[in-house]
Amino acid sequence: MTFSEIPKVELHLHLEGAAPPSFIRGLAKEKKIDISGIFDERGNYSYRDFEHFLSVYEAACTTLQSPEDFRRLTLAVLEQSAENGVIYSETFLSPDFCGGADLSAWIDYLAAIEDAANEAQRIFGITLRGIVTCIRHFGPEKSKKAALCAAETKSKFLTGFGMAGAELHGCPNDFAYSFDLAREAGLRLTCHAGEWGGPDMVRETVRALGVERIGHGINAIKEPDLVHELHDRGTVLEVCPGSNVVLRASGDWPSHPIDALRKAGVKVTVSTDDPPFFHTTMVNEYEKLAQTFGWRQEDFHQVNTTAIYAAFCDDETRTDIIQKLQVQNG
Ligand code: ADE
Ligand code: ZN
Repeated sequence: MTFSEIPKVELHLHLEGAAPPSFIRGLAKEKKIDISGIFDERGNYSYRDFEHFLSVYEAACTTLQSPEDFRRLTLAVLEQSAENGVIYSETFLSPDFCGGADLSAWIDYLAAIEDAANEAQRIFGITLRGIVTCIRHFGPEKSKKAALCAAETKSKFLTGFGMAGAELHGCPNDFAYSFDLAREAGLRLTCHAGEWGGPDMVRETVRALGVERIGHGINAIKEPDLVHELHDRGTVLEVCPGSNVVLRASGDWPSHPIDALRKAGVKVTVSTDDPPFFHTTMVNEYEKLAQTFGWRQEDFHQVNTTAIYAAFCDDETRTDIIQKLQVQNG
């Protein structure tokens, strides 16, 4: 079985961050927006460091101005995921980039995204679920608006709430209101932590926000007690090694902690984060994991099984995907 044939579950993908640069350039041209400064001479996204990455990301998002733009984006992204063997995907959706977190605008954007997801299910056989994501450096007040959008639109499709953005901005407790609101609405919870913050940030995020999954979480490796706590709690890490290497949140591939965390019994999963920004794909991540740590088909099957049990979907969908993982693994 080739790496592209392995059926995959991806839990950590930012919808806007998955936009191919050519797609964003096309929208910029249609709308006469000059964002030429965010691309290099080959047409790829260009940035210096994480902070600059966030501003390039936000500049790219200025071209996404209507539900129809998000419908086209969702289809383009899911086509690429399916080409990489992804059969189930969860993407982060940010009401802040969909009409400024205004609830009535958000309802229209979400309907367009869900419509595209249904079409992608029919055409490419991939299942999508959405996680509303607030942006940490936009502050706690904006995060409440995003949480309200999530709570008001919870559905079979929109199943989770989370937080991305500049991790070192504020502390987890500043966002507890938003996470409580989302939890009370019945949404499942995840939060970026331990990408830039240390073990204390991961611990505080798990405890103060009550999340069951952590985006990245790689710096947990620096404190054995925390590794034990994550193991004991069954917290799932959405690890994105290619993102970490390119953004320099970690060292090179051989020094990346994903294999050590897995060996310590922590539930790890594999995702791409923002694939075109990091010149990666799910197939590339799997190839690198095989080359660097000797992961084989059974390791990938185990990681995908961990992912589908941690997925924020209903049990009927989970059972369907588990069957697809088993059939294709023989
Ligand atoms: N938003 C998109 N990608 C991100 C990352 N790697 N960390 C934090 N926020 C993000
Ligand atoms: Zn992320």
